[in-house]
Amino acid sequence: MNYEQLGHTCVVGLGWGDEGKGKIVDLLSEHFDVIVRYNGGANAGHTVCHTGRTYTFHALPSGILRPDRVSVIGPGVALDLPAALKEILALRDSGIPVDENLRISDRAHLVLPYHKLEDHLSEARLKSDRRIGTTARGIGPCYADKMNRTTAVRMADLYCPDHLREHIRSIVERKRAVFQALYPDDGNLDAEAITDEFLGFAEQLRPHVCDTAALLRDAAASGRRILYEGANGTLLDVDHGTYPFVTSSSASALGVHPGAGVPPRLVNTCIGVLKAYSTRVGQGPFPAELCNEIGDRIRAQGREFGTTTGRPRRCGWFDAVAARYAVDLNGATYLALMHLDTLTGLNEVGLCLTYEDANGHAASFPARAEQLYACRPQIEFLPGWDADLSAVRSRDELPANARNFLARLEELLDVPIGIISVGPQREQTIML
Ligand code: IMP
Repeated sequence: MNYEQLGHTCVVGLGWGDEGKGKIVDLLSEHFDVIVRYNGGANAGHTVCHTGRTYTFHALPSGILRPDRVSVIGPGVALDLPAALKEILALRDSGIPVDENLRISDRAHLVLPYHKLEDHLSEARLKSDRRIGTTARGIGPCYADKMNRTTAVRMADLYCPDHLREHIRSIVERKRAVFQALYPDDGNLDAEAITDEFLGFAEQLRPHVCDTAALLRDAAASGRRILYEGANGTLLDVDHGTYPFVTSSSASALGVHPGAGVPPRLVNTCIGVLKAYSTRVGQGPFPAELCNEIGDRIRAQGREFGTTTGRPRRCGWFDAVAARYAVDLNGATYLALMHLDTLTGLNEVGLCLTYEDANGHAASFPARAEQLYACRPQIEFLPGWDADLSAVRSRDELPANARNFLARLEELLDVPIGIISVGPQREQTIML
């Protein structure tokens, strides 16, 4: 993988999130000038280990750790202002500047306190088998209001205080009526207090707010390179994921153009990030799931607990059917394979090659969650390896069985692996 030839590049998860995108964006950001978040919000948790410290970003792009690069929050993001400000202040406290290097789209939609409440109340009202298991960060209700249009608040609205006060007053009146009728819990919402709080956020963030789509076009025109940082993962994409057990944004590479506000020519390469096994948080079908001691072992070795909610992640074998679906959808140019070290010590490692439907027929990745629940995974087992991989820095130094596993993945997905991760630290990476 030659960095100079990558052009404008997006990094997307090919699974159900938590693939390790934060580490890859942090590594690649050295070779790019602008780093852009284009979808999702504080439901994501991107972890980056940097100079001996671990940082987790829910709202800010992972590139923010490089103050000489520009980090952008694009118009497609559901922006949680208190979360963003908390991260900004924490970075400043640890001596990392956040000034002109952070740009926030004036078109980004805002998550308001009633969105989080609505997320919680709406999940609580559903029967347990219908729940999505959201992160309760208000993402779904915020995007629903965006599509509804008349009940949305965007970043630019914060700079018209009189309009904002009246607008939030009318939204809160409507939310209260809906909450009371449905839940019934009117949430004790105080429109004036919400408005005052958000006007305070607006003042603190004023120097960062601009038309980021214009900024990206200008950057590209002057020869600077853009790195797009996907949040969540392709199998959680609202259009293409395991609907309805998905998030509410375009979490694949297909969301880059509207989410960042760039024309098609400004995305040249797609790096798909995958783990050497599968994980999922929340509800929804997961054909290769391991509800046994191997799944528990992977969870423990891979530290598979949610970055945002702390929930234990469901773990399973690598699913080549789902991965191939995601590779094809994104048009992935390279793979970044994460957590290879986590599989060390297993006698054999599994790969889900095909699904069998309820009638015993081979099934492709289906549209309906119910069909996916009915699919039985057909697993191929390859011999495992025992060697500690954490200090390995080249593909050739890997144990033969690990190399075989990688070669089989490349064969099944028909995409070259460009990066292999063997631990959380920046240097625990094999660049190919
Ligand atoms: P929401 O995005 O909070 O509405 O959650 C919808 C579904 O997506 C739930 O199953 C969440 O657990 C899942 N989800 C959302 N964001 C992430 C992520 O970044 N990693 C893993 N799962 C996520």
